[in-house]
Amino acid sequence: MQDVPDLLTAATAVLAMNDRGTYTQPAHGLYPHQWLWDSCFIAIGMRHLDVERAKTELLSLLRGQWHNGMLPNIIFREDPQYRTDRNIWRSWVNPNAPNGVTTTGITQPPMLADAVVQVGAKMDWPERRTWYALMYPALVRYHEWLYADRDPHHEGLVLQIHPWETGLDNTPPWIAEMHEHQLPFWITCIRLSKLDKVVNLFRRDTHSVPMDERFSTIEALTLFDIQRRLRRKSYDANKILDHSLLTIEDLSFNSIFIRANTQLQHIATSLKQTLPPNLTTNMRRTEKALEELWEPYSSQYYSRDFVTHRLLKTPTIATLLPLYAGTISQDRAAQLVRLLENEHVFGPAFPIPSVPVNSFWYNPRLYWQGPAWVNMNWLIIDGLKRYGYKDHAAALTESTLEMVEKAGSYEYFDPRDGSGAGAANFSWTAALAIDLLKS
Ligand code: GLC
Repeated sequence: MQDVPDLLTAATAVLAMNDRGTYTQPAHGLYPHQWLWDSCFIAIGMRHLDVERAKTELLSLLRGQWHNGMLPNIIFREDPQYRTDRNIWRSWVNPNAPNGVTTTGITQPPMLADAVVQVGAKMDWPERRTWYALMYPALVRYHEWLYADRDPHHEGLVLQIHPWETGLDNTPPWIAEMHEHQLPFWITCIRLSKLDKVVNLFRRDTHSVPMDERFSTIEALTLFDIQRRLRRKSYDANKILDHSLLTIEDLSFNSIFIRANTQLQHIATSLKQTLPPNLTTNMRRTEKALEELWEPYSSQYYSRDFVTHRLLKTPTIATLLPLYAGTISQDRAAQLVRLLENEHVFGPAFPIPSVPVNSFWYNPRLYWQGPAWVNMNWLIIDGLKRYGYKDHAAALTESTLEMVEKAGSYEYFDPRDGSGAGAANFSWTAALAIDLLKS
């Protein structure tokens, strides 16, 4: 048997390799820019190695904050070779875009408040107070923007306008809705004429990663088509919501938002600050509204179509994320844990699959349609601990570390045998492995 390199040393080397000074790229080549929730997960691991560098990782996200409070999912590198990436988005078409950097016009799950608290946990109180005070105004603006822009009917749940906003790019409920709302004519033509094979030659992701581990070219084109439509509306929510067909109150995003609200409240209380009353009212409403996503017959939570309020009853890894939200009852948490224990649902040899093993969608190496992802495991481990499932959390920590140790810091893993898939040397896998080792 080959020598298994020491996991901590190997993971630290991955972070060093992807370090770009003030932020960390998710993976060399495939993901060269700064991503919002990646940097949050990266800082959570990095805090064990270098607290100052972890602070810088999060602070550098704020240079991308829009004037209306939005945090974009990507801040682009300024090098000339990335002009195409910047031009696809053209964030400057919206007057709220920040000065001096180019970003996308959409967001990603609000992990920042939790990351700020996790990094803060490594400091003594005087230093932590300064750290919290530094991040607090930006966090308040971000959470206020999420409600103002993404909860226009004051329902408590925030909506997403592109699957990239959930971070689970090709997760089944979104892909199913995309097909439901019809592919644009030009994409149908490409499909019928089988030109997708030619288009595929221009995809950056399938050059470094096997094609059967990424989503189809037709799906990729549809995602870009949606992005183009958002750009045409200058990323202005009012204009987008007037006509948009694909708007979903996503379960994973809202679960993460609830935890972020709790952590933001914790930061405010520590600083002896009072959150704006409107924000507090909204935050309480979100906790209640999550329960509207519960469907009693299958005893699960689902995402919901924003316009029709139809539940999108396709179970995915999001099913388990209310454990991370932390506001559901002990009884409902127990029902979710039973799904995790079931080997035919979320409990194969190397959990947790991103869709259940017994799902029609399950494909063990296909991106967000089957493989296990370390960030999802981390969120669920955190939730399990808070609900008192210490043994479950310990077992999941062990199997997660085993995958990373044996295969390396891959982007995702085959849940049957723990083998790696997607990009190699992926930053959040390395960072969160460090956190699981050290916590
Ligand atoms: C992929 C993932 C997304 C992540 C990005 C950068 O698009 O689906 O969640 O933020 O890569 O790592």
